[in-house]
Amino acid sequence: MENDEENGIKEIEDLPGVGPTIASKLRNAGYYDIIALATANPADVAEVADIAEPTARKIIAEAREAANMNFVSGNDFESRMETIKKITLSSEKLNRLLGGGIETQSLTEFFGEYGSGKTQVAYQLAVNVQLPPEKGGVEGKAVWIDTEGTFRPERLKQIAMAQGIDPEKSLENIKVGRAYSTDHQMLLIDKIPDLINQDKKIKLIIIDSMTALFRAEFVGRSNLADRQQKLNVLLHHLQRIADRFNVAVYYTNQVMARPDVLFGDPTAAIGGNIIGHMATYRVYLRKSKKNIRIARLVDSPNLPEQEAAFQITPEGIKDVEEDE
Ligand code: GTP
Ligand code: MG
Repeated sequence: MENDEENGIKEIEDLPGVGPTIASKLRNAGYYDIIALATANPADVAEVADIAEPTARKIIAEAREAANMNFVSGNDFESRMETIKKITLSSEKLNRLLGGGIETQSLTEFFGEYGSGKTQVAYQLAVNVQLPPEKGGVEGKAVWIDTEGTFRPERLKQIAMAQGIDPEKSLENIKVGRAYSTDHQMLLIDKIPDLINQDKKIKLIIIDSMTALFRAEFVGRSNLADRQQKLNVLLHHLQRIADRFNVAVYYTNQVMARPDVLFGDPTAAIGGNIIGHMATYRVYLRKSKKNIRIARLVDSPNLPEQEAAFQITPEGIKDVEEDE
């Protein structure tokens, strides 16, 4: 990336007050570059870098000064100021539930039991991101991090075809990374900024599932705090990436259904809520009859808690037909 040669500040460790240790802590929390720090909040920076807030404030001020020098030439700022874009879910009702589709600069979590449709929604989004704006897409590409080995090219192509996209092209527009451990998952997520810098068309990040490897690796109560901490770091990274590159992040989280809880908080489901409240939008999916699924928006900054039904068809996600 072209940065300001004038003052020699290129990397975050070039900022006064940022040594290698602080730089590494900042990177681990998703503050990869000057721009990320320039727009950060002092309390967050103080916490993740384990420094006093006034120190964090100074570092941010330095970052702002350094960033201002290439305000005009820096396309980073430009992309940050781009307005939020939405990607259609191919169901009017689901779109409405989420205020028009899933959003760039936000994290969207879909959680629910096995077979509730979390991965099907991911396929649909990976196709729809490629659609032109008039069809609800952004003419973009997707990165798919598969932690369970369940990504099926055939299913993606089937849904692409139904959307009028050349199936082979639809596959080319998706970069799939298979993660084998939580460390590997973090590593792949760390590589996303490089991927996007190489290909600015990437507008959607999918992580299916966010939590499976964490559950497998961090078993038992004593490991709960570690697991939580690691997941939080990961989610912070993703939020930074979403903001900085104006991309949408969609991730899944399997929870077991509790048949006795019809109302009340479904996030209290067994095996439940290991993610906390990092996502901007959280949607709980449950099965209804046949291929019908009910989505409930659980957490959102600005939308009411509501439900929407949709169906999973061979062509992908659709609204439920009137007679069903
Ligand atoms: P886990 O990953 O096990 O937690 O489940 P999930 O929530 O990801 O479920 P997934 O999205 O894989 O949904 C599976 C359901 O989608 C199946 O039970 C089917 O009802 C439906 N489904 C999956 N593939 C197809 C398909 O090719 N055609 C149709 N019509 N339905 C499908
Ligand atoms: Mg799945």
